[in-house]
Amino acid sequence: MSIIFNKEKKIFKIENNNFSYIFYINQLGILVKLYLGKKINDLDLNSFSYINNLNADSYNFLDLKTNKEVINDKDNYFSGLTSDIEAPSFLTYDKRGPLVIINHQDNSSLTDFRYVSHKIYKDKKSLEGLPHFDNKDVETLEITLKDLKDNIYLIMYYSIYDGIDGIIRHNEIINKTKKEIRINRINSLCLDLPSLEYDLLSVYGTYATDRILERQKLTHNIISITENSGGKGFYHNPMCMLINKEANDNYGEVIGLGLVYSSNFKFDFIGNPLNKLRVLIGINDENFEYILDSNNSFISPEAIIIYSDEGINKVTHQFHDLIREHILRKVEGFENTILLNSWEGCMFDFDTNKIMNFISKAKKMDVNLFVLDDGWFSKRNDDFSSLGDWEVNTDKIDLKKVIDYAHSLKIKFGIWIEPEMISFNSDLFKEHPDYALMDKDVNPTTLRHQLVLNLTKKEVRDSIFSKICKIFDTYDIDYCKWDFNRILTEAIDNSNFKINKSLYHNFILGTYDLLNRFISRYPKILLETCAGGGGRFDLGMLYYSSQIWGSDETDGVSRTLIQYATNLFYPLKVIGAHVSARKFLSIKEKASIAMFGTFGYELDPTKLTDEDLIEVKLSNKRFLDNKKLIDEGDYYPLISPYNNNFVSFEVVSKDKKELIFFFMNYRQVNWESRFIKLKGLDKNKLYKNDYDNNIFYGDFYMNVGLNLSMGMQSFTPLIIKLTQVDDEK
Ligand code: GLA
Repeated sequence: MSIIFNKEKKIFKIENNNFSYIFYINQLGILVKLYLGKKINDLDLNSFSYINNLNADSYNFLDLKTNKEVINDKDNYFSGLTSDIEAPSFLTYDKRGPLVIINHQDNSSLTDFRYVSHKIYKDKKSLEGLPHFDNKDVETLEITLKDLKDNIYLIMYYSIYDGIDGIIRHNEIINKTKKEIRINRINSLCLDLPSLEYDLLSVYGTYATDRILERQKLTHNIISITENSGGKGFYHNPMCMLINKEANDNYGEVIGLGLVYSSNFKFDFIGNPLNKLRVLIGINDENFEYILDSNNSFISPEAIIIYSDEGINKVTHQFHDLIREHILRKVEGFENTILLNSWEGCMFDFDTNKIMNFISKAKKMDVNLFVLDDGWFSKRNDDFSSLGDWEVNTDKIDLKKVIDYAHSLKIKFGIWIEPEMISFNSDLFKEHPDYALMDKDVNPTTLRHQLVLNLTKKEVRDSIFSKICKIFDTYDIDYCKWDFNRILTEAIDNSNFKINKSLYHNFILGTYDLLNRFISRYPKILLETCAGGGGRFDLGMLYYSSQIWGSDETDGVSRTLIQYATNLFYPLKVIGAHVSARKFLSIKEKASIAMFGTFGYELDPTKLTDEDLIEVKLSNKRFLDNKKLIDEGDYYPLISPYNNNFVSFEVVSKDKKELIFFFMNYRQVNWESRFIKLKGLDKNKLYKNDYDNNIFYGDFYMNVGLNLSMGMQSFTPLIIKLTQVDDEK
């Protein structure tokens, strides 16, 4: 990988062996993009005009100092309508959507940033207060631009990692004027592409259908993926792909895009009438205005561009590698964790005895992490009260006793918290109604009978953090499930009207601050974030938590769709996936899909029969035997459940020695011919499968396929393992 600046041509090249991202500084100081794609040989000045010269409108500028027009010439052709621009202006030459909108002191919003200087270094700055990728094996280009109108600077960051075909982008605005300015929009990246021939692949969802795939054709209008709920992000997700119309799973151009952010975001796909595409990714500008004081700076979240000329699968692999290697929080000691969570087993209805019984049964299940979910604190016996009162309800549960018991059985112990929330019916609310987000003139909206704490205030964060610390300092807790069960409404701070239009952003900074304090104080505690099932599934959260709850109360069948969609973007090892008590499927069947995540159980263990326990143990063993492969291998979707009666995917180890294959039908099927072609094997090596024990070459499995021609009852999952046996034939 390398970042090169060619002084003579003023050209920046960010590239590795597989892709190049190239742009240059034009005669006006505007950064003009030339190319994103498979690595190509050097570009010369001819190529600039070749790429730029679309015979569209050519833009000249009048120089007011010399009273002369700066005229476009052939080599420096520039069009506001068609040239690909890295930092597009606002209210001037470009009408396709700006990188930033800033309200100046004269109340105009004209912004036009031009090149000043740049630096290239083998490092990456950390983003204060925001989750971000690390600085391992990375190189960064930092470009400073200045607004034509005011003393406002834009710093654009481009980083490239060894082994990753893409770049990480973010921007910073520095106000060097003497007064405050107002940022009305800030994107983390602008990506202009010379073609509109893409489909957009994204995910949406809600409770129990947490992530569902959707594919749509881009048009000459604007298509946006936006989230405005303030953080419960399963409605829309800040990861997507652009799939060229010629591309498929293994072939052709696919561009992966993402944002490291857990609050309101916006991805705009702006089709240009001349068949070009502009992509803008950043903080949602709905009700957004950030007041930036003199000599202060504002940092945008990080965004990702991944490039593949080998189809969708390669983007998925690159997303997974990037996340696993460079952002995901790792906590040692949880490598072989099998969890049992109390929620779906007993909800709020428990006491010390019941939990002791659960733990003793957990031991029989070979579970090694028991999690006491909601209901252990204050008067919390239903969801009408007590959020914010983080004190153990000693009448209900002897927490020390159950923790000691779990530990005596070598079972780790975890608890549930929901720090951002406050119940109307709580001591905290009685004492501090001002801690809740609401408008003083309007009745607040309660959702699940609760309000949201105003985490933009340090005083509120301090108060809630000290209460939580009392619990985690007193009890020997190994794991924490950090929940977030409602969206933000009335996001108003009555005491500080100046921040009201940036409240969503300040709120997530407050959440990040709390999370950061928590992981710094308790580095050994495994944190799992959650939002009313599998909401808030984003890269921002993965910086603090090693895994994210996948969904609640779902059966194995629904989970196949959730996991299939999630895993196109996020590594398998981060999705909480459990065997629930839902009917229809057996434990073995439910475990077959749950094992492709952070495996565990969500049920009443005392209701398990002896036969169930045998199934549980076998399922645990199968999970543990394959965990490393599933956690670290390359994931390939094979049959999409969205338009088929089947679902299938596989994971191959990076060294191609092992493969695990999952297959399930939905409706019952009679015998029919069915060959599933595997992917990612070494074509010249022999592999034995444990389904019919045949040994074939990798290319046989990849071209003929696994022969699954047979009849099946509804929902019959099948797991097949292939192992390289080169020496045996
Ligand atoms: C949310 C979570 C559940 C459970 C409950 C507790 O709904 O998704 O798993 O923790 O909260 O109230």
